[in-house]
Amino acid sequence: MKRKLLGALLSVAMVASLLVGCSSGGSTSTADNAGNDTQAEAPANNTQTETTAGGKIGISMPTQSLERWNRDGAYLDEQFKAAGFETILTFSDNDSGRQVNDIQNMLADGVDLLIVAAIDGEALNTAMNEAAEANVPVISYDRLILNDAVSYYVSFDNYTVGKLQGEFIEKELDLANAGDKVYNLEITAGDPADNNAGYFYNGAVDVLRPYIDAGTLNIVSGQIDFDTVATAQWNTDTALERAQNVLSSYYADGTQLDVWLCSNDSTALGVAQAITSDYAGSNSVVITGQDGDEANLKNIVDGVQTMTVYKNVSNESIVTLGLAKAMLAGDTIDASLANSFGIECAYDTESYETSAGNKCPSFLLVPNVITKDNLQELVDTGLYTMGDDGYLSAN
Ligand code: GAL
Repeated sequence: MKRKLLGALLSVAMVASLLVGCSSGGSTSTADNAGNDTQAEAPANNTQTETTAGGKIGISMPTQSLERWNRDGAYLDEQFKAAGFETILTFSDNDSGRQVNDIQNMLADGVDLLIVAAIDGEALNTAMNEAAEANVPVISYDRLILNDAVSYYVSFDNYTVGKLQGEFIEKELDLANAGDKVYNLEITAGDPADNNAGYFYNGAVDVLRPYIDAGTLNIVSGQIDFDTVATAQWNTDTALERAQNVLSSYYADGTQLDVWLCSNDSTALGVAQAITSDYAGSNSVVITGQDGDEANLKNIVDGVQTMTVYKNVSNESIVTLGLAKAMLAGDTIDASLANSFGIECAYDTESYETSAGNKCPSFLLVPNVITKDNLQELVDTGLYTMGDDGYLSAN
């Protein structure tokens, strides 16, 4: 009788740990704590792990038109296959309706767990609700999905990405010692549908705001609010067109442009093209970015772009695999798991919510600043090769 009761408790603990959404993220650890008590008595051979090895994983990526997602999809697919899982990998061409359909097809194919990088964090409710009803846990990958069906979030510290961009500008222009000098700044932010975009924007603007208020930084166009400077789908041509409009409207009279804050590389590419073709000034403009896209790394070597914030998405896939295995095995999921990957990764249960007040336990990796002076760090990851011309290509 006792063994039967223990077996029932174990099954409940495992199902409970799979079913918890971010909404009960806090209770995840509670359930796990309860699970711990139960697992402490788990049979030595821990049949849970054996029965869950080699499940089927649905990997839903937003698009292939933005360079990094091709790498995310490949790394995730490789990692899970190498670990003995069957995978379904889709790219939804930046079409949220298609992404819903892709996820529904994965559920119909009987996936055991979903990994989703949302095109629009608020547009997947139909698929997320179906996942919850089917007891299929969801890892929200890189971009937070705003639905309580999500169990965990794996990303980078997105606010810090923006903060690093703001601090780079602060240091590059030595704003703290600018005295009466005024620098002219413009801003290009990301996709409003992408939950990350606001964090990138706020991280940077929070650093620069004191200098804007003091008049040390002057936004000549007056365009600073997020919705005005945002870029739908992070589209390079959209960023290019807006930058050309700003330059023709506010800088054609010879006004000097000193710095352009761009939240990522695809938008920085458009801004850099506009500056190259339409900016009459002779000074080189400080331009920020994010992702380490190949064209932008070339621009960094050539002095067209000044920095990018690099995020090792291979490491992001390693953390995601480790988390998925722990979820499927009903293991305890807490800071000790984050520390077990050998990758700098914080376990954060406060910063992100899938709905008002519902904290989502998150695994946040650490971003790095890359300039022309430390490109070797990218080569040292083993993920890039430097050619004889000094340009980097992704392996
Ligand atoms: C964000 C992502 C960034 C950025 C953008 C474009 O959500 O975190 O790396 O590049 O999407 O894909």
